Amino acid sequence: MALLPILRYPDPRLHTRAKPVARVDAGIRKLAADMAETMYAAPGIGLAATQVNVHQRLLVLDISDDRSQLQIFINPEILSREGECEGEEGCLSVPGIYETVKRSERVKVRALDRDGKPFEIDADGMLAVCLQHEIDHLDGKVFVEYLSKLKLGRIKAKLAKQARITA
Ligand code: NI
Repeated sequence: MALLPILRYPDPRLHTRAKPVARVDAGIRKLAADMAETMYAAPGIGLAATQVNVHQRLLVLDISDDRSQLQIFINPEILSREGECEGEEGCLSVPGIYETVKRSERVKVRALDRDGKPFEIDADGMLAVCLQHEIDHLDGKVFVEYLSKLKLGRIKAKLAKQARITA
C-alpha cells in the first residue's frame, strides 16, 4: 500500500469530472486500498479518487469512531433524496476550513462493491452527508463552492497564505 498525495483546493484538477470505472479489477482494488490508507493517515472520514488525481468514480469512507468500518463505493449514484439538513463540513483538499453546507438529509445510493457487485444503501446522518460530499468531488465540485463568492474569496486568500507558510 502507499500514501497518495492529496490535491489542494483551488487546484484546477479538482474540477475534473471522473469517468465511470469500466471494470472492477486488481488495479481498482489497489487504488481503493491506497486511498483508504491515505484517508486514515490524513486523518479524514472520506476520500474521493478525484482528490488523489485519479479521475475514476471511486470513493472510500469510514465514519465509525474506531475507524474499523471502511466502505468502498465504485460508480456511486444517488437514486433519490429526501429532506434537508445543515452541518459543518471539512475536506482534506481544503485543510483547516470548516463551513456549514446544506445537504439532503437522506439519500438512497447505488454502487458497486470491491468485488464489482451492485448494492444499494439508504443513508442518513453523517453517512448521507459524507456520500454527497464525496460524490460531488467525483463531479468536480468542492464543498466551499456552495458558499457565497465573498466567503469563497476569503477562503482562497487564507489557503494561499497557508501555502506560503508551508512552502
Ligand atoms: Ni472533500
